[in-house]
Amino acid sequence: MKFSSLNLNGFRLFYLLLFMIPAEIVAQIHDTAQIEDIVNDFVNLKKRGANLLGLCPFHNEKTPSFTVSPTKNIYKCFGCGKAGNPVGFIMEHEQFSYPEALRYLAKRYNIDIPEVDNETARESKQLRESLQLINVFAEKHFIENLVNTNEGINIGLSYFKERGYLEKTIEKFKLGYSLSEGKALLKLLEKNGYKTEYAAKIGLVGQRDNRSYDFFRERVMFPIHNLSGKVIAFAGRTLSNNKKTPKYVNSPESEIYVKNKVLYGIFQAKSSIRANDNCYLVEGYTDVISMHQAGIENVVASSGTSLTDGQIRLIKRFTQNITVLYDGDAAGIKAAMRGTDMLLAADMNIKVAVLPEGEDPDSFVKQHGHSGFEQFISNEASDFILFKIKILLKDISNDPIKKSNAIRSIVESLSSIPDPIKRSLYIKQCSQLFEVEEGIIISEVNKLQMAKIKQYNRQKEKENNSQPPPNSNKSPQLDEGAYYYPEEDDIIPEYDVPVINTEDNKHLHLLERYIIRAMLLYGRNELEQGQAVIPYIIQDLNNAEIRFDKQIYQLIFDEFSEGLVQQKLLEEPHFLNHSNMQIAKECTTLIADRAEPSENWFSLHQVIVTPDGKHFKREVKELLDRYKLAKLTKLLEENQEKLKQDLSDEEVIEILQIHQQLKKIQAEISKRLGIVIM
Ligand code: CTP
Ligand code: MN
Repeated sequence: MKFSSLNLNGFRLFYLLLFMIPAEIVAQIHDTAQIEDIVNDFVNLKKRGANLLGLCPFHNEKTPSFTVSPTKNIYKCFGCGKAGNPVGFIMEHEQFSYPEALRYLAKRYNIDIPEVDNETARESKQLRESLQLINVFAEKHFIENLVNTNEGINIGLSYFKERGYLEKTIEKFKLGYSLSEGKALLKLLEKNGYKTEYAAKIGLVGQRDNRSYDFFRERVMFPIHNLSGKVIAFAGRTLSNNKKTPKYVNSPESEIYVKNKVLYGIFQAKSSIRANDNCYLVEGYTDVISMHQAGIENVVASSGTSLTDGQIRLIKRFTQNITVLYDGDAAGIKAAMRGTDMLLAADMNIKVAVLPEGEDPDSFVKQHGHSGFEQFISNEASDFILFKIKILLKDISNDPIKKSNAIRSIVESLSSIPDPIKRSLYIKQCSQLFEVEEGIIISEVNKLQMAKIKQYNRQKEKENNSQPPPNSNKSPQLDEGAYYYPEEDDIIPEYDVPVINTEDNKHLHLLERYIIRAMLLYGRNELEQGQAVIPYIIQDLNNAEIRFDKQIYQLIFDEFSEGLVQQKLLEEPHFLNHSNMQIAKECTTLIADRAEPSENWFSLHQVIVTPDGKHFKREVKELLDRYKLAKLTKLLEENQEKLKQDLSDEEVIEILQIHQQLKKIQAEISKRLGIVIM
């Protein structure tokens, strides 16, 4: 879907960002959604005068301070300060993006959203829906087996009972049982008109030599749910002691099951993760279930593999804090430590706790219960880096080679920490514990970071070379059912080529304003591996030897640079309370404007500036490119002016050479931006 730049205005931009939800429908959703209905779905509300009152779902409280005003159609919590309209509530509560929240509300109020997406998108959506339905059918079948067949009751249910699972736990996780008969599910699927071919796609049915059969047999079944609670895959655990039978078999990856983006238990855990602002990470399905039964619900399992980037992002939607629980055996710890540098890189606060020898979370909570577990965590959970250092220190015993290997491994972890303040604190502690000079560790960390950046750039270059041209026919799509959530780069609309207006410095100054705005509002966010927005912008502009045209922006920029020299990424309060009134005032307006980038901004300047900084990565890079382009255009004009003077041949040649060079850079940047210079 493309629009020409000429008729792009704020309204159209929003239209694009909304995954093609027409504006009148958006308005209808906003008009229809009643805050008291929406909140009532999640919070117990009691009438209090004209308002309604309840316990805030966003923070822990014992006396209600969460207020809903039906007349104003807003909620506000006087405890934590969160407030907003129905759409905002859903976004906050379900961690939905704006379009996701709109779709949720549309569904709730039976408002039809006309689908304008293309045919292939529609087809793949239909396919996913069909696959999804088969999984739902199978889930019910497995439950039915467990509670209503002799085999299921005698084998499956009695196994769960033996493990101490209560009925409500079995229901909560929708546990089931697959019969020993080879075609039980297959026959039912056929009878009910489901395509065997589809059932095979999601691994419920196996096919060999033109014969089909049930894939899961004689196993207790653990359905795997996506964030919205839909079953997208299964794991089946054998009850036989035969060493040759694999303990667990799992559904294969499919259109609806992308393993590395799923965590077992996330649906059942998400609200508790948010309420506790912490997530426990365990290995196994049964660990998750037993912890729930003990009343600890903020827990997910990586299912025996090391964490992936997608899984980390999933947790990060609900909390920055993660506590990794290791089974009490040394092999487990070493293996499990592998995924953790990624957690550091994602700027998560990681704690670890090692269970007593021979125990896993499942056995531990069964034996010690909720309070025993909390006691254990408060005694044992320690900071990840310090934990790693201590584990490594144990092995060293004054062997210099072992020691340098250990330090290298720690340096690897340290270099993954994006926050320079955190990093420097750890470096200090590390140097004390290892008895190594701080300067040496700093320089090793720096070396590694440089290497990572280089590798990243090489990678990017490769990707760019093998990518289809921009503006190719890819249209963004939202998939409500399957496990798919739009990320950073997924939902940016395609748009046509803008034309730069160079008539005055207004364009230049606006770009400068938005660069500073980006530094203020999301300067600490990670832009590229290990580098935050602030240092990225500073480095980029310094490399290009560019100074701001408008003095006030240069002042603020210098302030950020100062901060960086002292290893600080300055934040809002620094500027808002600044002794230089001009700086304080400018920053106050910039921050106050946070939610409202100018309506004309996109149509005039073609830079995507989203209210919430959702696309900040692309935003910052484009801003910088457009700013350089604007500067270049100005230089080119000035250069050309010079030609009008009376000049020697040499001078003319020199000016023309400069002109050539400027043109070349201009072309490079334009290409990157997909711009045609008029
Ligand atoms: N796992 C697997 N395949 C196996 C063994 C393990 O996929 N053959 C994964 C499962 O996700 C499992 C996790 O690794 O949940 C942890 O393994 P384990 O501790 O052996 O399983 P539990 O879930 O704890 O099962 P149980 O308590 O019944 O032994
Ligand atoms: Mn176990």
